[in-house]
Amino acid sequence: MFSKSNKEDKNTIDTTQILNDNIPKHVAIIMDGNGRWAQKRHLPRIAGHREGMNTVKKITISASNLGVKVLTLYAFSTENWKRPSGEVSFLMHLPGDFFDTFVPDLIKANVKVKVMGYIDQLPDFTQKAVKKAIADTAKCTGMILNFALNYGGRAEIVTAVQKIAEKVSQNDLKPDEISEETINSSLMTADLKPFSDPDLLIRTSGEERISNFLLWQIAYSELVFSDQLWPDFSDTTLKDCIYQYQQRNRRFGGLK
Ligand code: IPE
Ligand code: IPE
Ligand code: MG
Repeated sequence: MFSKSNKEDKNTIDTTQILNDNIPKHVAIIMDGNGRWAQKRHLPRIAGHREGMNTVKKITISASNLGVKVLTLYAFSTENWKRPSGEVSFLMHLPGDFFDTFVPDLIKANVKVKVMGYIDQLPDFTQKAVKKAIADTAKCTGMILNFALNYGGRAEIVTAVQKIAEKVSQNDLKPDEISEETINSSLMTADLKPFSDPDLLIRTSGEERISNFLLWQIAYSELVFSDQLWPDFSDTTLKDCIYQYQQRNRRFGGLK
């Protein structure tokens, strides 16, 4: 249940120990382990994705209640097209199912939907579902629920470099004027400013890798790895991850 990186053998935390004045503003989650959750139950992998969708609903409300400003969820990577077509097709139908049932709750919680990734490469019905959810929640002013859908960190950097190179070739920008800020503002997280970079990155299922997620933006994120499979991830697990985050000493290269 608790992170592998939590070396002390703590069996449980009292979640009231979370400091409300130190909630990470941007939490990003690599939601992993849906397939294993299903396989453990002798179910098809897609059953894990369906259950994982219910976890997204629960965790969105928990994060919003805790005061998180941006929750970025890795839902489909640019590499996930390699999976069997039946599984990919199921995943492409999930946004429609999710938003059809959940948008009223999102509006009630004042949560605004955003999507980053290569949306134009998704099937039309997926694009439609996503665009409708963005429009339906456009007036919400609370937490941003940011789905990474057909997203890849390297592809994102390639696109940013192309945009910048185009400006240079048009003489709108000189090479020595390219700064970190130029790159920040060319990435898909630019409009999340001032919360473009995650404070806390969580990966579930015990895997300890980044899998092409937010490569530039996680330069100084705190990483927490949870052994929970995503469908089992709960409000308590989220609070445990935040508790671990609050034990860290973020120095950003300086001294504290
Ligand atoms: C995460 O669960 C969901 C997606 C990547 C779409 P997985 O489908 O990767 O589950 P495992 O890792 O095979 O258990
Ligand atoms: C990362 O999980 C992508 C998402 C959670 C959407 P994967 O299951 O695709 O990653 P790998 O293959 O284990 O690295
Ligand atoms: Mg996986």
